[in-house]
Amino acid sequence: MNGHIYYGDSLQIMPTLPSESIDLVLTDPPYAIHYKSNRRIVKKKFDHLIGDMPGDWIEQFAAQTFRLLKPDRHLYCFCRHDTYPRFYHAFENAGFKMKRTLIWVKNNHGSGDLKGDYASRDEWIIYAHKGRRLLRGKRKDNILEFPKIFSSKLLHPTQKPVDLLRLLISKSTDRGEVVLDPYAGVLSTAVAAMMEERDFIMIDIEQKFLLDGYGRIVNNEKWDNYKVTIPSELLSK
Ligand SMILES: C[S@@+](CC[C@H](N)C(=O)[O-])C[C@H]1O[C@@H](n2cnc3c(N)ncnc32)[C@H](O)[C@@H]1O
Repeated sequence: MNGHIYYGDSLQIMPTLPSESIDLVLTDPPYAIHYKSNRRIVKKKFDHLIGDMPGDWIEQFAAQTFRLLKPDRHLYCFCRHDTYPRFYHAFENAGFKMKRTLIWVKNNHGSGDLKGDYASRDEWIIYAHKGRRLLRGKRKDNILEFPKIFSSKLLHPTQKPVDLLRLLISKSTDRGEVVLDPYAGVLSTAVAAMMEERDFIMIDIEQKFLLDGYGRIVNNEKWDNYKVTIPSELLSK
């Protein structure tokens, strides 16, 4: 099985990948607002996420994912309620058939405006088709209940649970197919792909996240089954 890790701007790296070479896009892009986590780790706040700015990158990202997917394949994209319309229309304009929004319901809520807002316990996931592919396994509803990762265990401020990613990969691909995450953070999607025995292509612009993620995949129980390429400048810096 194969894995490829790229270090850099996904809007520059995706255009270098061949058209119709990917079986699933599963990603969690920057939130398109000036995001800063309030969760503290070892008394240090996370820095602002690079790339987390308004701009026209959403349209370019959507167009590239459509080009890269093989015909009759799926896309999942995490987003917030306030950036959802922008992502939804970008995917629709790129040619995707918009199927449904999945709701990840967490076991407890986040912080935010403690007195003036409802506490948020959900995250939204756009699910779209390029062409049409049937979902694998038993029919499932669109409410996905998975616990959040404990703050003390987080390597990344918006790290996603591997079990949730495994579910989406297993519903939308077969063994040996290729999963792309162009905003991969600490490689949660790669860990999930390995557990489901899928190939993977991961991109992120932050060296620290990729190095932490690399540690996770090297320690994965399926590591010996994989040949993983990683840029030498990532490991040597
Ligand atoms: C919401 S986080 C993804 C977290 C991931 N789901 C995980 O579990 O670790 C978005 C990621 O996009 C990365 N990013 C931002 N701009 C980027 C760009 N232009 N190209 C590639 N990655 C980028 C950030 O470094 C960040 O790790």
